[in-house]
Amino acid sequence: MTSMEDYRKFLKTDVWDELRTISTDQAKNLPAPPVQKHCDKSITIDLILPEDIDIGKMSIWEVINRRKSYRKYTDEYFTIEELSFLLWSTQGVKKVFQGNGSSFRTVPSAGARHPFETYLLINRVEGVSPGIYRYLAMEHQLTFLYESKTLVGDIGVGCNMQHFVGTGAVVFIWTVIPYRTEWRYSVVSPKIIALDAGHVCQNLYLACEAIGAGTCAIGAYHQKRMDAILGVDGKEEFVIYLAPAGKR
Ligand SMILES: Cc1cc2nc3c(=O)[nH]c(=O)nc-3n(C[C@H](O)[C@H](O)[C@H](O)COP(=O)(O)O)c2cc1C
Repeated sequence: MTSMEDYRKFLKTDVWDELRTISTDQAKNLPAPPVQKHCDKSITIDLILPEDIDIGKMSIWEVINRRKSYRKYTDEYFTIEELSFLLWSTQGVKKVFQGNGSSFRTVPSAGARHPFETYLLINRVEGVSPGIYRYLAMEHQLTFLYESKTLVGDIGVGCNMQHFVGTGAVVFIWTVIPYRTEWRYSVVSPKIIALDAGHVCQNLYLACEAIGAGTCAIGAYHQKRMDAILGVDGKEEFVIYLAPAGKR
């Protein structure tokens, strides 16, 4: 039987000793994985460019002091500017290094690997039809994936019957593509990826506060159900974290 001590191992840096004995794929000069999952761009929606966003100017002291989890949202719609702000705050790209598949973004990530993709259930955003979308961080665009009348309920069930999750104006669903981090960090990647994910959701909390919206981190979900909703393979890409967001 696996002991608690075994489960704790991934939190420790002991595994770094092992890393020193391993030739990582980066060290073997294998090509770096792409900075973003491929997209055929059939239907895309342009977002408001970061430099044109004119909301979210509350002081950092105030947003930090106010931050808390919200699990009830009004029927109000987000504007496309508000959604653009939330996406830029969580994964916005500032510089890309295609050669080694890294990027600088609005959140930190070990080795600038940024192993996440952002999917959205959109319920209420002005001018955007409800459905599942993916944020193309490199292009600062949304790409439409599919729509279904049962998504709100499906996500509640997928989050272990936490039905409020599906009711956000938007639900952020982050997947991880572990190889993006593993290419450089090999066996130490699980700890690094878990730490990276926290930064993304924290910025969502702060950005929501700055526009009078609320969010709630969701770590309790059913892996296979959530992966199936997004149509990801559950192996090379799988759901790691969620957060509904809405006006309050
Ligand atoms: C990693 C993580 C996972 C969480 N998962 C859930 C969850 O599944 N459901 C939920 O209602 N809240 C979840 N929360 C929110 C916490 O319950 C909340 O942060 C905590 O009660 C403190 O409240 P505050 O955020 O208002 O300060 C999660 C928070 C974190 C950081």
